[in-house]
Parts: sequence; C-alpha cells; structure tokens
Amino acid sequence: MDKTFSPILWEDNHLKLLDQTKLPSEEIWLDCTTPQHVADAILCLAVRGAPSIGVAAAYGVILGVQGVAESELENAFHDTASFLEGTRPTAVNLRWAIEQGRQVFAKTSNQGTQAVCDALLDLAHRLKAQEIASCQQMGQFGSELFDDGNRVLTHCNAGALATVGYGTALGVIRAAWENGKKVEVWVDETRPLLQGARLNSWELKQLGIPFHVIPDNSAGAIMSRGWVDRIVVGADRIAANGDAANKIGTYSVAVLAQHHNVPFYVAAPLSTIDLDTATGADIPIEERNPDEVTNILGQQQITPDDTLAMNLAFDVTPNDLIAAIITEMGVLKPPYTESIKDAFERAQSN
Ligand code: MRU
Repeated sequence: MDKTFSPILWEDNHLKLLDQTKLPSEEIWLDCTTPQHVADAILCLAVRGAPSIGVAAAYGVILGVQGVAESELENAFHDTASFLEGTRPTAVNLRWAIEQGRQVFAKTSNQGTQAVCDALLDLAHRLKAQEIASCQQMGQFGSELFDDGNRVLTHCNAGALATVGYGTALGVIRAAWENGKKVEVWVDETRPLLQGARLNSWELKQLGIPFHVIPDNSAGAIMSRGWVDRIVVGADRIAANGDAANKIGTYSVAVLAQHHNVPFYVAAPLSTIDLDTATGADIPIEERNPDEVTNILGQQQITPDDTLAMNLAFDVTPNDLIAAIITEMGVLKPPYTESIKDAFERAQSN
C-alpha cells in the first residue's frame, strides 16, 4: 500500500468507492452517480470511518446539484446536504464536511450551477488532501510515543480505508514502523462487523507490519500476560472535554488498559473534535440493525429465530482513561479542555 492509496476517488464526474463490505476477499469499486448511491454506501459501511464518511459526503453533495436548472439549485443543494448529513449520527466529520459545503454554496450560489459544482469539487479535493496530510503529521507525532519492539493493540479499523488515506491509529503505527521501530500489532477482530479482522489485516498485510488477530474478548487475557505495551484507537467524535466516541468495545479496552497500566491513546484529526459537544454524554450513539449481531456478516444466522439483540455501534471512553490524544497539532495531554482549546487556537493562527 503506497502513500497515494485512497479508497475514495472522483473520476469522470462521479464518486468511486472501494467497497469495504467486500474486503478482504474482493476488491470491488462502487460507482456512485447519485446522492442515494452515496447514502446507501455510507449506511451499509461500504465507505466507513469518520474522515472517509465526511469526504465521501463532500463529494456526494456534488452529485445532487450537477446539471440541475438554476431555478432548482437552492433546493437541490440543501436537500442533498441534509439527506447525506442524516445518514450516520456519531461521526462528527460528516457534519463538519457538509457544513463547509454549505458555506461554499452560500458564497457561490449566485454564480450558477457550474460555478457551484466547481467550488464544491475544489472543497472536496481540499478536505481529502487535508485529512491525509493530518494523518501523516499525527503519525510523526504519535510515532514518538512508541519504543522499538512495542506490541500495540488497536480496536476497529482506523487505517487508510477509514481516513481517505494513511490512517489515524493505524497511521501512527505505520509511521512508527516507517521510522524504523519494529512494532507488532494485536488486532481486535471488532465484532459484529469485523472491521479489525477484515480491514486491519488487509492493510497491515500490505504494509508488511507483523500482526495477530485476536477475538475481542481475549484482550484482557493478553494484557494480563504483559503482552501489550501500548494501545491506540481512532475516534468518531471527541467532545470538548476529551471524552471520545469510537467503535463499540473501545471503552472496555480502555478500562482494561487502566487496570493493567498500559497507556491508552486516541489518534484523531481536529476535524473529529467537536467543540460544540461539551462531554461524551452529549454524543449521539448510532444504534444499528440487530441482524448484524444475530448474523455473521449477513451470511449465517447464529441465534434462534426472533432472538432480540442490541447493536450499539459506538461507545464513549471518558477522558480520564485516555493518556493522550494524538492530533496533527501535536500530542494533547490532560486536562483536555485546555489542551484541545489550545490546539484549535494554534491551528487557526497557522
Ligand atoms: O462503524 P465504523 O466502521 O464507521 O466505525 C469506525 C470507527 O469506529 C473508527 O475507529 C473511527 O471512525 C475512526 S476512523 C479514523
């Protein structure tokens, strides 16, 4: 996997997405020519991971306004923006990207459909480049937190697939590896949709970084044997006080990390930090179809018919369990209310 790999491409006036539901067995690219195609891809997790969802939506709004009559432009844009914004509630990057689309639209709407499309495309390209650059920068900061030979545990996929390229949590691991540190990775399989087993393995194998996949419920046993030196995960939304929402199961890992004295890091760009969300209690948590729990990847039912199941897609790790938040503006330490505010101020003055 070279540095230019991206699961999100804009070609011939439409969006191409590497279908993450089919990995690792098949590498299939979806052609999205309508906002509905993009919404379907977000909902079924063909495109997933907070930064990737945001960038896909930034391109997706263009599909709702391309070629529309000037008289329809206003409605077409706002309907598409609200439609895509409503697809998934937890990752703030989605709202962040759509909000920037709205600002671009407000500035260009009086110049006609083509000018709006050009400006929205320019924005989407910029957001994509910015997310990749942020990941590479946070990788360099995060790499400093690892020692040669560290065994690093991660949960869910926060790699190139989730971030338009390079990766946050996996990006930090990758940067440490590229900087010559011989790290090894414990990959939580990440029930129920197996983003760890399917997607981290796909990425780590290509990068040549050694890893073992483990059932989620063996993380504690592995920590108790002293086999985990660091933990790094991504985030879907970080509140202003540093509480971090990430894939369900992350909170359990953080509690185990504290018990076993293992540093627990969250790696995320500033686009994932939501200053308008005061604490983790204010983060909306997506609840997904229970069938994802009662079936293995939609292929085999594992419970009796009509079994009730609960499928929370994310949980919140309280800030006091997080040793540091790794961002493109540096490694933020507690108290997070201050260090996050400071990072935003520094980013603004750049
Ligand atoms: O439901 P998913 O697969 O979109 O959840 C993704 C995660 O929880 C990732 O860890 C998070 O978005 C960070 S990606 C850099």
